[in-house]
Amino acid sequence: MIETSLIMQILELLVYLFIFALGLSILALIVIYIIDVNQTKQAIRRNYPVVGRFRYWFEEMGVFFRQYFFAMDREELPFNRADRSWVYRAAKNLSNTTAFGSTRDLRTTGTVLFANCPYPTLGEDASPASEVTIGPGCARPYTTSSLFNISGMSYGALSTPAVLALSNGARMAGCWMNTGEGGLSPFHLQGGADIVFQIGTAKYGVRDEAGNLSDEKLRETAAHAQVKMFEIKLSQGAKPGKGGILPGTKVTAEIASIRGIKQGEDSISPNRHPELNSEDDLLDMIARVREVTGKPVGIKAVIGAYGWVDSLCLAIKERGIDSAPDFITIDSADGGTGAAPMSLIDYMGLPIRESLPLVVDILTAHDLKQRIKINCSGKLITPAEAAWALCVGADFVVSARGFMFSLGCIQALQCDKNTCPTGITTHNKRLQQGLNVDEKAERVKNYAKNMAYEIGVIAHSCGVPEPRKLKRFHARIVTESGMSKPLDQIYSEISIVEQLISARTTDTKNQ
Ligand SMILES: Cc1cc2nc3c(=O)[nH]c(=O)nc-3n(C[C@H](O)[C@H](O)[C@H](O)COP(=O)(O)O)c2cc1C
Ligand code: SF4
Repeated sequence: MIETSLIMQILELLVYLFIFALGLSILALIVIYIIDVNQTKQAIRRNYPVVGRFRYWFEEMGVFFRQYFFAMDREELPFNRADRSWVYRAAKNLSNTTAFGSTRDLRTTGTVLFANCPYPTLGEDASPASEVTIGPGCARPYTTSSLFNISGMSYGALSTPAVLALSNGARMAGCWMNTGEGGLSPFHLQGGADIVFQIGTAKYGVRDEAGNLSDEKLRETAAHAQVKMFEIKLSQGAKPGKGGILPGTKVTAEIASIRGIKQGEDSISPNRHPELNSEDDLLDMIARVREVTGKPVGIKAVIGAYGWVDSLCLAIKERGIDSAPDFITIDSADGGTGAAPMSLIDYMGLPIRESLPLVVDILTAHDLKQRIKINCSGKLITPAEAAWALCVGADFVVSARGFMFSLGCIQALQCDKNTCPTGITTHNKRLQQGLNVDEKAERVKNYAKNMAYEIGVIAHSCGVPEPRKLKRFHARIVTESGMSKPLDQIYSEISIVEQLISARTTDTKNQ
């Protein structure tokens, strides 16, 4: 009897609670209704009070629904699921073989295909990627065989554990890591990888108090044996011609000391190096950095207008071949960044498919291709993409977002919001905790090694003993007719170099 009355009491309480909750909900709906019809900021909410709010919620959640449920494997942008999955599996050292057949449509225009050889390279004839020496004329040239390396991402854009995992992983894989424009942090050095120090437009890490390039700081930076090369950044694919402000609130004591700026004060990155107005200025800066540091010096740029590459080559010829940049890093218009305006990210510059062959051809026409090594980046995150770049004429491939995927990036596209769910691009300590440095360093290493291995597999299938022997005729592109053509034919038809030389001749005649 006592038990029954207790149950009745609980039921009664639940009924009251239910009625109370219902009443509260109705009251909340009435309040929301009144707020919505009286507000003037959003027409949808004014015209469709209460239900109109779902639109904004669905819009936000749609991103996740599309990624997880609706987008096909090869549909998503910037990176589709098939490519991301390849990186995730490579990073975990899981098998990347697929069954039954390709889900890639081989008929669409622009599809890259490789020309397999009837007599592929036998295992015993295969050789590791050959060594390349960058800046042979420098006091301390850099020699490496690493094909696939980590592209510039600043400490600041990346969290401490992300930088640590990348630098440890790069050391274990034997590849280099670029600092990005935010200076050299202790975490870059701690991991023990070879470092490329990037000189951005604010010269973070190598500037004097007025923000000018400092020889003393350059010397200090070059004194680290790990720092192998310097890269002067002219532009990057996602935001050519765009500088930036680092708000004072983000300039902590640590960031201030790494970058050489004042703690708590806004720091402005100009939208270009103010002292560089011509190819001659650029060659002067390259000569200065090389002289002071004794190490190879290159430039990074996204190509848009390309006459300057031709002029640069002419200026080099005039000064002598030693004056050349030791390498050029070509970034694609669809490169990544922490944050950039949509008008630049979506519209400015040429994609790597167009710019890489163009620069290779200009350097070749000036007989500078051997002297100036070519790095390239822009969504080259799978072996096939990287092998395409080697066929076109690149000496090295670098990637930023490929390595972010190896760290566990889920393409949540919140890199600029300090809410990165994987701890890669956030300073929130709680979120950073999710990123285990040792575990992720291992993944970075696996990814770099599996990339190099599988680029080799493509090379062997094409019949060459190692990836650096790949040539343009080894890759083909499906054209509008549905038939594919080899790269050497496609680019000789376009013959940009002939156009440049003829434009120059016309200029001279008109003078
Ligand atoms: C988070 C983030 C930060 C970056 N920071 C820099 C930078 O400091 N300097 C730079 O030259 N490029 C920077 N980049 C561009 C990359 O180095 C690279 O050129 C570009 O993302 C293309 O390579 P990917 O397609 O493999 O990512 C950044 C990219 C990302 C995603
Ligand atoms: S998980 Fe999202 S926010 Fe984090 S790095 Fe990747 S894209 Fe950026």
